[in-house]
Amino acid sequence: MKIEDVNALDSDAFISLFGNIVENCSLIAAAIWSSRPFSDVDDIQNQLNKFIDLLPRNGKEGILRNHPDLAGRLAAAGQLTRESTQEQKAAGLDTLTAEEKEKLNKLNTEYKAKFGFPFVICARENKKDAILKGLEHRVQNDLETETLTGVEEVKKICRLRLLDIMENHPGAKL
Ligand code: GUN
Repeated sequence: MKIEDVNALDSDAFISLFGNIVENCSLIAAAIWSSRPFSDVDDIQNQLNKFIDLLPRNGKEGILRNHPDLAGRLAAAGQLTRESTQEQKAAGLDTLTAEEKEKLNKLNTEYKAKFGFPFVICARENKKDAILKGLEHRVQNDLETETLTGVEEVKKICRLRLLDIMENHPGAKL
């Protein structure tokens, strides 16, 4: 899909295509549609980063809170979004041993009790061992550091989702 095809989308089509580049946050796609025309994918990403960076801290926390747990209840029930299912699989989270699963669940619970939102990491850039190590390390952060760290991971997840859409949607089909 070319950037001209993106710029030609009406808001409904744009939201339906890009609504989940930030997990369960279609409001962000709806907001950045106003910034058309985009010059390229980097421009879309920059608009999105700018929108996220300008949110107050509770808005950033809200974005993190809209993410499912890694290898959590929704994953077990097969109820993740398509994107999250693929990402968790890419990290090997669908093939955790019982022991790894228990460790991840314990750390996830500890993390959420401390910060009030789930641990978010770009799963496609981290295999399961790195995810467990990252969780062990990041659970020791303070709230402000962790909110900003989580949001930077959201931007990485978003970039890969954006690139997937651009590659997988030839303009002619829209
Ligand atoms: N990293 C990539 N996708 C996800 C997700 O859906 N949830 C969490 N917690 N982290 C992710």
